[in-house]
Amino acid sequence: MTKRIGILTSGGDCGGLNAAIRAVALRAHHGYGWTTVGLRSGTHGLLDRPVDAVELDPDDLDAALARQGGTFLGTTNRGDPFAFPMPSGGKKDRSAEMLKGLSTLKLDGLIGIGGDGSLDILRRLMAPSKVPFIGVPKTIDNDVANTERAIGYSTAVAIATEALDRLHPTGASHERVMVLEVMGRDAGHIAIAAAIAGGADVVLIPEVRWNLKHVVAHIDKLRRSGRTSALVVVAEAAGHSDEAADADSDAPHHGIGEWLALRLSKATGAEARATVLGHVQRGAMPTAEDRLLASAFGVRAVDLLADGKADRMVAWWNRQVIDVPLEKVVGRSRTVDRDGALVRTARALGICLGDRP
Ligand code: F6P
Repeated sequence: MTKRIGILTSGGDCGGLNAAIRAVALRAHHGYGWTTVGLRSGTHGLLDRPVDAVELDPDDLDAALARQGGTFLGTTNRGDPFAFPMPSGGKKDRSAEMLKGLSTLKLDGLIGIGGDGSLDILRRLMAPSKVPFIGVPKTIDNDVANTERAIGYSTAVAIATEALDRLHPTGASHERVMVLEVMGRDAGHIAIAAAIAGGADVVLIPEVRWNLKHVVAHIDKLRRSGRTSALVVVAEAAGHSDEAADADSDAPHHGIGEWLALRLSKATGAEARATVLGHVQRGAMPTAEDRLLASAFGVRAVDLLADGKADRMVAWWNRQVIDVPLEKVVGRSRTVDRDGALVRTARALGICLGDRP
């Protein structure tokens, strides 16, 4: 009998999701003769009756899809099945309703593409069901445990690097300190990679405790050496300098980038401007690396279902696609290694991390 597998995207979108969906459906069809059903809007579509899902026709999934940003199935990061936000303002456990919806699709396996939070939720949702579940890691933050890469990170780094390439000439022309705030809810992977690739002078990440006075001293040193402009990258989660604790008067209202630009201009006397890159990092045409990773992950996820595996996540490790138990992924996160290659590289290039004079 022809098997049917489901695929859904959950959590924030990023570059490479469509390439992963395509790879799953093509591998299922060409490799095993299976049908793939796309679930719409993450798990939200499972609450509709009939369930909001569509059979994917392999003939519609040409390479053009792999080039597109976003996810054509839709996604959400606002619909925890166990604490679903209700119109009344309260929260309700709707996991049983979702599982009932899922059962109407008569699936033999489900592949969920998500970050650490989504994979945790999907794993718990699927636990009482008999449908095997396989996770695929995606997040521009690149902080999913036990994989060196998540889909979307490469694209976000490319965009943040391009932003620095664009900020440099305008900053230099006006002799300004240009502050770029990049995403990363809890980790500084995008910030440190873009800072190295984009030639920043300073990078502030949550993993390295920093102090404003060291950043100011570094910019002063650059000026004394004849430099008239500077590039500063700050991760949205970088927190605030120790000196901010009693600085209520200019406490950040709009995020760390604006706060930092204000403080730097006061402390150095230079004009400073902040750019908050925000969702621009998520929406682009995916890089070749993300398309490749997404394709390899999609194929491996289907192969795992074919091998009768469940409760595992595909991962990238040492230039190989591997798979790991989901229990070794959920509830953990992979932050930037303070002694790792990227931090050492940044320091060697003279980039200030704000933790020393
Ligand atoms: O986790 C991905 C991410 O883009 C984070 O970097 C960011 O903090 C968050 O999602 C933004 O979420 P939202 O799209 O809900 O604003």
